[in-house]
Amino acid sequence: MAWDVRPTADLEQFVDAVGAISHYFGSESDLERAERFAKVLPLERMHAAFDGDRIVGGAGAFPFQLTVPGGPIACGGVTVVGVLPTHRRRGVLTAMMRTQLEDIRDRGEPIAALWASEEVIYRRFGYGVASFTGAIEIASGYSGLRQAPDPAVTSRLITLEDAKELVPPVYDRVRAVTPGMFERPEAWWELRNLADPPDRRFGGGVKNALLVELDGKPAGYALYRFHMKFDEGSAAGHVEVIEALADGPLATGELWRVLLDMDWKATLQASLLPIDHPLQFQLAYPRRMRMRISDGLWVRLVDVGAALAARAYGGDGPVVLEVEDSFLPENAGRWRIAGGTAERTDADADLALDVGELGSAYLGGFTFAELVRAGVVRELKQSGAARADGVFLTAAPKPWCPEIF
Ligand SMILES: CC(C)(COP(=O)(O)OP(=O)(O)OC[C@H]1O[C@@H](n2cnc3c(N)ncnc32)[C@H](O)[C@@H]1OP(=O)(O)O)[C@@H](O)C(=O)NCCC(=O)NCCS
Repeated sequence: MAWDVRPTADLEQFVDAVGAISHYFGSESDLERAERFAKVLPLERMHAAFDGDRIVGGAGAFPFQLTVPGGPIACGGVTVVGVLPTHRRRGVLTAMMRTQLEDIRDRGEPIAALWASEEVIYRRFGYGVASFTGAIEIASGYSGLRQAPDPAVTSRLITLEDAKELVPPVYDRVRAVTPGMFERPEAWWELRNLADPPDRRFGGGVKNALLVELDGKPAGYALYRFHMKFDEGSAAGHVEVIEALADGPLATGELWRVLLDMDWKATLQASLLPIDHPLQFQLAYPRRMRMRISDGLWVRLVDVGAALAARAYGGDGPVVLEVEDSFLPENAGRWRIAGGTAERTDADADLALDVGELGSAYLGGFTFAELVRAGVVRELKQSGAARADGVFLTAAPKPWCPEIF
């Protein structure tokens, strides 16, 4: 059956389309909440799938500026994807993905990115895992750092209201150089990161904001909450770090020192960290981080030529990639990358790969050599992977997206 998929035309349709995923979260439809959400997700960026006049599925795309090697580019930030249980496995998602990707391409956004609720869903639509992410749990007795405290860095607690002024500039400095991070408009900060609705505390206390300053200037911040618990007189709860970012190694170390030194906790827990987090080298007992790794951001090159041209490269090349794309076949073919430009070519290819694997390499999170070793990229010429890595690898850190959207 061909499903009718179109952008939501009014707030009622928007509520019903978002309602498909809300069903699984167990939340009620709420017009007021939808109105707030529409400030960051415009109605025309929310697609609805109709069965007659009933909405049975929805898929949204935030208009992001996402950092890739070289700087920020336009990106469809895919979100709130859901199909009602009455209509699953009948092609509704497939129809929504097609319409959404065409819309993203027509808007001139060369790539799309998402977090996947299940890792089997999005490969078929051309997405590839573009970053790994780590969750840590550090027991209180093992939270010391190698370096002594630096008196140039001071810390203070600030209100969430004051955080609206003080925190975004720090985020923006880190974002500018970190692939995978996206620009947060003011409404985003207010609605998401610096809001603290009681129904989002999940058994924890209020959201706190901590600022660290280097020579008196904001250089890092953390948002965190206590999950307080005592067991036979001893602290058994944890501190949950919601987000901690800092500009440079000194501020990073001192920010985490304050978090790690907190009393009344058995452990510190944090998730959505980059796997090359500086703490790996700053902690006296890095093994005690107990980092668990999983897939992070997924990336889809929606317009392969535009996406390859939008990114910076670490080497001149050339390298030729033979790309397959069964979902958007107009991307398929051979692409030559040389001197920072990308164009179609008839030349022999170095590597053959699916567009999903190109998504895995795009932010610099994975090398072509790794993908060849896994058997998901084919080397057509000797040293093809090494040549491609010489072109794609830059000085940027590993991709990091600190927030599920
Ligand atoms: C995931 C979800 C959106 C899939 O929607 P759907 O309309 O059932 O998907 P489709 O019918 O278009 O499926 C397309 C293909 O993907 C497969 N597929 C889709 N979701 C899958 C899943 N969760 N696990 C395994 N396979 C899945 C289907 O089996 C189908 O395969 P086929 O083409 O070989 O038959 C829907 O089940 C849902 O809303 N789940 C709960 C919310 C959720 O996880 N949303 C995603 C948020 S990131």
